[in-house]
Amino acid sequence: MAPRKLAAGNWKMNGTTASLAEVDALTAPEGCGVLICPPATLIAAMAAQVQGGVMVGGQDCHAKASGAHTGDISAAQLKDAGASHVILGHSERRADHGETDAQVAAKAGAAHGMGLTAIICVGETDAQRDAGETLDVIARQLAGSVPEGASAGNTVIAYEPVWAIGSGRTPTAEQIAEVHALMRERLSARFEDGADMTLLYGGSVKASNAREIFAIAHVNGALVGGASLKAADFAPIVAALAAA
Ligand code: PGA
Repeated sequence: MAPRKLAAGNWKMNGTTASLAEVDALTAPEGCGVLICPPATLIAAMAAQVQGGVMVGGQDCHAKASGAHTGDISAAQLKDAGASHVILGHSERRADHGETDAQVAAKAGAAHGMGLTAIICVGETDAQRDAGETLDVIARQLAGSVPEGASAGNTVIAYEPVWAIGSGRTPTAEQIAEVHALMRERLSARFEDGADMTLLYGGSVKASNAREIFAIAHVNGALVGGASLKAADFAPIVAALAAA
């Protein structure tokens, strides 16, 4: 089995019901998963609206199944709303909410328990890259954030350099290749089917750079923020991945 290709859109805190029409123009090509992770308020409506094999996911979940956690959402609730995936440990959550690797691993375990695919995000800051710490940071985040029980069937890893997110700056192909090779090596050493896990790149992916990024070894797709909000921007990225 080869890693399954995935083009994943992360709408972050953008979109209202008026935005749902964007998914009408999306379909999943043969052999290529297409996923949109809208705000939680739109998951159920989007799940009812998507067609052509397009999937819907959440942007976070709590590690607990239910209880007194005001404002949080459980994996079971995401599943109930029609989600198949959940993004976990995005750098914005690590920064805004102080999420640790251990918390991300616990959330991923909860997602797995509900049959959701966890998209676990890792990535270095500008300062960490400048200090030559990138590979250490990625290895540490991978070891700490990916729980036992992860497999190619329930886990996707997204490498998102913090400095590349929303900035228009992307790493060189060599920099992406170096990190993805490390991730493949570590995941293959730890998990029986680590060689088959889908590895995404994320951070300022757009139609104009997608082809080059998808040509890099061990890049099996993308996690796309800004360029996933409009079908006109996202569809060409999906097409580039299908053709890669
Ligand atoms: P961006 O965001 O594509 O807008 O850089 C990517 C992400 O944060 O997942």
